[in-house]
Order: sequence, then C-alpha cells, then structure tokens
Amino acid sequence: MENAAAAQTRAAKPFLSDIKTLRERARQHIEQGAVTDTYVGDVGKTIEILQSVLATELVCVLRYTQHAVAAAGIASESVKSEFAQHAKEEQEHAMMVAERINQLGGSPNFNPDGLSTRSASQYSTPEDLVGMIRENLIAERIAVDHYRELIRYFGENDPTTRVMIETILEVEEEHASDMQDLLAAHGRDEGADAH
Ligand SMILES: [Fe+2]
Ligand SMILES: [Fe+2]
Repeated sequence: MENAAAAQTRAAKPFLSDIKTLRERARQHIEQGAVTDTYVGDVGKTIEILQSVLATELVCVLRYTQHAVAAAGIASESVKSEFAQHAKEEQEHAMMVAERINQLGGSPNFNPDGLSTRSASQYSTPEDLVGMIRENLIAERIAVDHYRELIRYFGENDPTTRVMIETILEVEEEHASDMQDLLAAHGRDEGADAH
C-alpha cells in the first residue's frame, strides 16, 4: 500500500505537455536556442557556475601540462606521461563546459586575466615530483568535492548540465585515484606525514 507522502508526491508530479503545446511553445523565444520554457532555475546563474568550472578545468590543464614538462628524471617518465594524459582529459572537460555555456546563450570565458580567481583548483608548481603529485591530488579532490555539490544543485532542474558534470566527475575520481597510487609509489621514501 502506498503511504500518504508517496501519494502526495505522485499527485504533485507535473503533467506532460501535449504535442500541440510543445510545438507552440518551441516557436516562441526561438532566439533562446536550447533554453526553453521547461528550463527550471536561473540560466544566468548556471552560466556563472559553469564559467567557474571552465576556469577550474583550464587551471588543471595548465598545471598538469607544466608538471608533465617539468617532471625530471628517468624514474618519472611514466609519471610525466600520466600528467600529460590528465592534461589532455582536462582540456576535453574544458571544451565540454565551454560548449554548454555557449548552448545556454553565454560566452565561455577563456580570459587569462582572473583565471586563477575564477577557478576552484589552484595553480601550483612544486620543484619535486612528489610535491607535484600531491598538488594534483589536492586539485582533484577539490574538483570532486565541487562537482558532487553541483550535481546535487542541478538535480532535475538542468539534467543536461548535471549529466555533463557527472561524466566529468567520474574522470576526476579516476584522476584522484591515479594520483593517490603515484603518491604511494613515489612518496614512500619521503616518510609519513605528521598527522
Ligand atoms: Fe577535469
Ligand atoms: Fe582531473
């Protein structure tokens, strides 16, 4: 038996528009492109959030690229290629986010001025390999935390943006796990952190 709360939720479920209404609605405000009447929430706010995600991804591209070039020593060849691979994937994320901003009627912000301020992740270039791995792990953890929150924020209001962030989150979790493995492999001789 359905309880009262469930029945109420079911009753509150919005009806589906008929084809005639859908067709009429689609003809209005065609200048808004993919943003239609069923877009719940604030498009301006979504674009603002996505600009910050774009900056986060771009800072990750720059940091991983710098580390891929600067990591020195034969022992770090595999680490260098891992950094380079991550840089490539962060670039793909940046493009996905930029395309979504464009779709929503915004202009993706690639301006280097203020980039690190708009970004959640930080640009840090330690001299040593372990320091680099650690900074990347921290950046990934920031992204994972941030994106999980955004997924909850977008919920059912903007499923396309939510699914995009979910796709990105999956890769960031892999990145974090990769960095954790590298830290375990290369950070051994550094001694345990004080904690
Ligand atoms: Fe990313
Ligand atoms: Fe990442």
